[in-house]
Amino acid sequence: MSTANRKRVRLMENPLQIKRIHHVEFLVGNARQASYYYRNAFGFSLAAYRGQETGSRDMASYVLTQGKTNLVVSTPLTPSHPAAEHIRRHGDGVHDIALEVADADRAFEQALARGAEAAEAPHDLKDEFGTVRRAAIRTYGDTIHSLLSRRGYRGPFLPGYAEQRIAGDDAGILRIDHMVGNVELGQMNRWAEFYSKVFGFHRFISFDDKDISTEYSALMSIVMSDDSYSVKFPINEPAPGRRKSQIAEYLEAYQGPGVQHIALQVTDAISTVDKLQRNGVEFLRVPDSYYDILAERIGELDEPLEEIRRLGILVDKDQDGYLLQVFTRPVEDRPTVFYEIIQRKGSRGFGKGNFKALFEAIELEQARRGNL
Ligand code: FE2
Repeated sequence: MSTANRKRVRLMENPLQIKRIHHVEFLVGNARQASYYYRNAFGFSLAAYRGQETGSRDMASYVLTQGKTNLVVSTPLTPSHPAAEHIRRHGDGVHDIALEVADADRAFEQALARGAEAAEAPHDLKDEFGTVRRAAIRTYGDTIHSLLSRRGYRGPFLPGYAEQRIAGDDAGILRIDHMVGNVELGQMNRWAEFYSKVFGFHRFISFDDKDISTEYSALMSIVMSDDSYSVKFPINEPAPGRRKSQIAEYLEAYQGPGVQHIALQVTDAISTVDKLQRNGVEFLRVPDSYYDILAERIGELDEPLEEIRRLGILVDKDQDGYLLQVFTRPVEDRPTVFYEIIQRKGSRGFGKGNFKALFEAIELEQARRGNL
């Protein structure tokens, strides 16, 4: 294939010219305390800050980094700021899954031509370190994708942020593996279609209610991925069951669709989970009987089974290899956003073999909240 043809194919498959997930921004009630939690519980380092001291009159934000993962926690400083309404409705939650693109103007124009709804027209963010171009489109609920092109920007994060460093005790978190959205019953296909049309993503795997159901409730899921499998956005919807599904509980607590969980990829799940547990991060636990049949179900593992059992880590296997995963409880008081820690050893899957044990564990928690 000629270079020109190859370039054309790549353009077809990546119409917005997405390079990576640049950062994920949470809107929270108290960003100072949230940043403390991510530093001390998850081992993130503070890298940059904006607030009144840096000339940001109405918003304070803390940039937390670990490996290639950037989280931003932001809070409005006035009740009239639009972020205040986001927090009133949703509680703390993800507002922006920000994407770095080659050219924000072109990405925005392409996205709109492919049916996306505008959230912010392209504009410059500027400071003494240079210019970043920013636009944004809407996705499910009140969530947006900002589109950032950095144009050789040399500052610590984005214009308006000042460098402010507090090193965290790194827990081995590398990058975002996937980010899952919960949408209303009947809307999953619409949003899968959105990522296919606007982003050029393909359907990687689908799970129907037969894959993900317990005695009481069920959900369905479609995993949308870019061609390099580096950006994966699964979309969940609740399926009708005898009781309220975890997705329905989320939609009620979050007052609509939004990000359900962020999966963080690690190279050594045992050491990361051990550290996070000692730091006070609360994880879901499946019944101990899960481990009685694990060796039989999975076969040989590189990791010691006693450690996997002690830490409550789940294991799943497919034709390509296996994966280790574990899920936190929601990190807010509303049962909304939670985290997954995932280590891939060949497997590109999502832990289908763990769904049943896991969802039964989630339902126990739902019942304790009076929401099943
Ligand atoms: Fe996940």
